[in-house]
Amino acid sequence: MSAGISRRRGLDPGDWVVALDELPAPEQGRIDPRSWFEHPDRPLEFEIGSGKGTFLVQQARLQRETNFLGAEWAAAYARHAADRARRHGLENVRMLHGNAVEFISHWCPDGIIDVLHLYFSDPWPKKRHHKRRVVQDESLVQFHRLLRGNGQFRIVTDHIDLWHWYEEHMERNASMFERCEYEPPASAGEGEFVGTNFERKFRIEGRSFNAMTLRKVGD
Ligand SMILES: C[S@@+](CC[C@H](N)C(=O)[O-])C[C@H]1O[C@@H](n2cnc3c(N)ncnc32)[C@H](O)[C@@H]1O
Repeated sequence: MSAGISRRRGLDPGDWVVALDELPAPEQGRIDPRSWFEHPDRPLEFEIGSGKGTFLVQQARLQRETNFLGAEWAAAYARHAADRARRHGLENVRMLHGNAVEFISHWCPDGIIDVLHLYFSDPWPKKRHHKRRVVQDESLVQFHRLLRGNGQFRIVTDHIDLWHWYEEHMERNASMFERCEYEPPASAGEGEFVGTNFERKFRIEGRSFNAMTLRKVGD
């Protein structure tokens, strides 16, 4: 297994993390993250911006036959999420420490992900920072490539301007993704959209949320 990840059980939290900056350069070929799991043949779901890993850990405990890869560029959060997964004995969870969009664009093979999750992504409200948002026309091409046929891309946000950004991007890219009904995951609590740390914090503040599920269309 690459980048310090071991298949052995009971290791320290670092063994649940792959560091993007320790991977071979992308010129040396694609890297398939399915090989980082004990059962590489199982379906793989990928969460961009996992924070402390609440969604990953909650959902992976209910869906043991599915592998979950979280990506988080903040080192402390990536370690925290990995440590939680280790303490729960979740061999179906791994964390990537690094920029998820870079990893997807430059390292990931085509058609390996069943579901892509993006929950409460940073809104980058200033216009000059919009280019830092995860969803861009260019990143949607990569997400489309990453997903298997009929794969899903699931988004939840509290931020109305970011929501409009998502809607505009999806309208412009309707040949790649079709909208379908959003249903909360099994791990969501009563009345929750997904049940992440940010959702729980924002609910206490009385914020409202929007959600969409997109289905990959075309090859
Ligand atoms: C607002 S927090 C939400 C965390 C979690 N999804 C939740 O709902 O509680 C967004 C997280 O995404 C991470 N993030 C943003 N862009 C990222 C990227 N391109 N790759 C990896 N992590 C990213 C940030 O470091 C941050 O921890």
